[in-house]
Amino acid sequence: MCDLGHHHADDAHYGYLVDTPEIRALIAETERVSTAIADPAARVEALKPAFAALLATDGWLPASCATADDTSRMGGGIGQYALYRAHDGSLCLFSLVVPVGASTPVHDHLAWGLVGIYRGRQDETVYRRLDDGRDASRAQLEISRRQQLGAGEFYALLPPADDIHFVKTISDAPSISIHLLANDTACVWRHKFEPDTGAVTPFRSGYANAPCRDEAS
Ligand SMILES: [Fe+2]
Repeated sequence: MCDLGHHHADDAHYGYLVDTPEIRALIAETERVSTAIADPAARVEALKPAFAALLATDGWLPASCATADDTSRMGGGIGQYALYRAHDGSLCLFSLVVPVGASTPVHDHLAWGLVGIYRGRQDETVYRRLDDGRDASRAQLEISRRQQLGAGEFYALLPPADDIHFVKTISDAPSISIHLLANDTACVWRHKFEPDTGAVTPFRSGYANAPCRDEAS
């Protein structure tokens, strides 16, 4: 499931990489809501019950998608595992495993969605951008919010508001968060920020269990 395996057919890396009724139910509801509701904020609101239901259910996340990744491009052994990827790049569901004490880089997402804690506890620091974004290599950031989240708690992403953040695991076991986002998050070129210096660098996190399309052989 979360192993890369020996098959290289493009199709094997899209659709349901983890195929369980719980994941299918959330994706079906997301497709239904996305067709019925045009406004991203209203879509996210309508999806909250289905997303909360997945977070509250045990047994659907394979152990192989709940482990650290020593080859992580995010560093710190952080593992990002695709569970579902739409073929057209319009939607993905993934797990993010952040080892004890590890932090993600400060990063953006560039898509609306929902992010929730499945296991463990995270401290989230959210940044507000003060500059106009005209210089692609610089960003002036200030902290707009810090919050702690435990299992079952979640938040919405509605870029550009609150789209820049980092999370740190503060539990004594790795945190696992579940992300439902309206892009192929690990394969789009996003941004990594250094708030102290203002530096912005292109960032593509990659999935531990599936290549990006231009990486597939
Ligand atoms: Fe994030």
